[in-house]
Amino acid sequence: MKLKNSTSKIRDLSIEIDKLRMPHHVAIIMDGNGRWGVNKGLTRSHGHNEGVSVLKNIIKFSKKLGIKILTIYAFSTENWIRPHEEVSFLLNLFKKVLDDEIIELNKELIKIKFIGDLSPFSEDLRKKFTEAENITKNNDEFTLNVCANYGGRQELVKVAKELAMRSISGEIKPDQINEEMFESHLYTGDLQDPDLLIRTSGEKRISNFLLWQLAYSEIYVTDVLWPEFNENEFLKAIIDYQSRSRRFGGIKSISNQSLTSSMSFG
Ligand code: FPP
Repeated sequence: MKLKNSTSKIRDLSIEIDKLRMPHHVAIIMDGNGRWGVNKGLTRSHGHNEGVSVLKNIIKFSKKLGIKILTIYAFSTENWIRPHEEVSFLLNLFKKVLDDEIIELNKELIKIKFIGDLSPFSEDLRKKFTEAENITKNNDEFTLNVCANYGGRQELVKVAKELAMRSISGEIKPDQINEEMFESHLYTGDLQDPDLLIRTSGEKRISNFLLWQLAYSEIYVTDVLWPEFNENEFLKAIIDYQSRSRRFGGIKSISNQSLTSSMSFG
């Protein structure tokens, strides 16, 4: 019975979605795994396991809705300060998810990319990241960016260093540096910026996530903890996004399709 109810709710909300105004790129801060586990009288690790199941559903559902890019915050540059057991659980979980899911992700024509400073991860895990990227590199239906040891400030410093090196070597002149050149050095390269950022578990901050890329993204915060986030909650975020007027600093609302041609910054 319960299943029937939630299915019919999903159907109701789907009617409110404007298929022509879907966000192209959605970024997600999947927060609340640990609290969910503890609230249930279980461990934080149970929360992370449940978080993976939710993630699988949300990836499939995003693709079905016509979203093209999903960028998820899986492990931040700050997450290393968690207790050793939790860090090690998370790193093993990444490995397990890749072992269990890469064939399915590839079948679904999903391209997976790992974003962040991957150098502190074990050689074994980095190999899994590279393998997953290689297996899926020709897929063009949908891109899943997994941010691992990612920090927005770290990314901006990386870009500054790379541009400084290019200037010192004489390849570019400092006054040639513009937004376009800067952007091309970001991990996200030439990907369109996220249209929508979703954060679960109620915290109203961006926690060093995609500092450059989120400049004009719409932000949706829900109190729902990530392990309880589902298709219905995702539809609520999309409906909320579609109700916003995106002006990018100008005065007229601009549709996603005409962004580059008519952008006006105030
Ligand atoms: C935040 O909850 C969640 C994380 C730090 C980890 C999320 C990782 C996954 C769901 C695995 C993804 C894996 C791959 C390979 C794509 P929290 O622990 O900060 O929760 P809390 O705020 O309640 O403490």
